Amino acid sequence: MEQTEVVVPKTLDELIAILRKIFESDSINVEEVQQIMESYESNPEEWMKFAKFDQYRYTRNLVDQGNGKFNLMILCWGEGHGSSIHDHTDSHCFMKLLQGQLKETLFEWPDKKGEMVQKSQRILLENKVAYINDSIGLHRVENGSHTEGATCQTFDQRTGHTNTVQMTFWSKFGKRTPFVSDGIPFWPP
Ligand SMILES: [Fe+2]
Repeated sequence: MEQTEVVVPKTLDELIAILRKIFESDSINVEEVQQIMESYESNPEEWMKFAKFDQYRYTRNLVDQGNGKFNLMILCWGEGHGSSIHDHTDSHCFMKLLQGQLKETLFEWPDKKGEMVQKSQRILLENKVAYINDSIGLHRVENGSHTEGATCQTFDQRTGHTNTVQMTFWSKFGKRTPFVSDGIPFWPP
């Protein structure tokens, strides 16, 4: 295999530019992406405007649409917030901890009886990058802390699937997205 030079992104914008370049190709090297995301040193000044917390649940905030190849999001877990157990619709999913700590619990795909079997559990630390896809299993990500929030950056590769789950975002490009009721959008206060 060809040896590629390791690029160290100095800013979030630089990281996004590098990821866009990598994802121009349809086959990507998971370790390379993981390494590049890990080498970006989290700087709250750069991502603060995207990090919007909600009182009741964790939020997904869209930062970049990666030229149609991926979505880069900032996810924010308030104290005690957690995700559901979920899959990743045939996508790569990279998750970098920007601030705080998160607990990731990994599960096998449910058996015929629909029972979930826990595979492993780990604590994700600041600046580290976790990776998952459907062949690894499903996971739940939660902020066990009752005193501190947690922010991470995730990154889902788009698939060519037409039946991809509709993505919902708490905010897009730093602006709160409207709620839609009976087809009519309205903005929360
Ligand atoms: Fe996930």
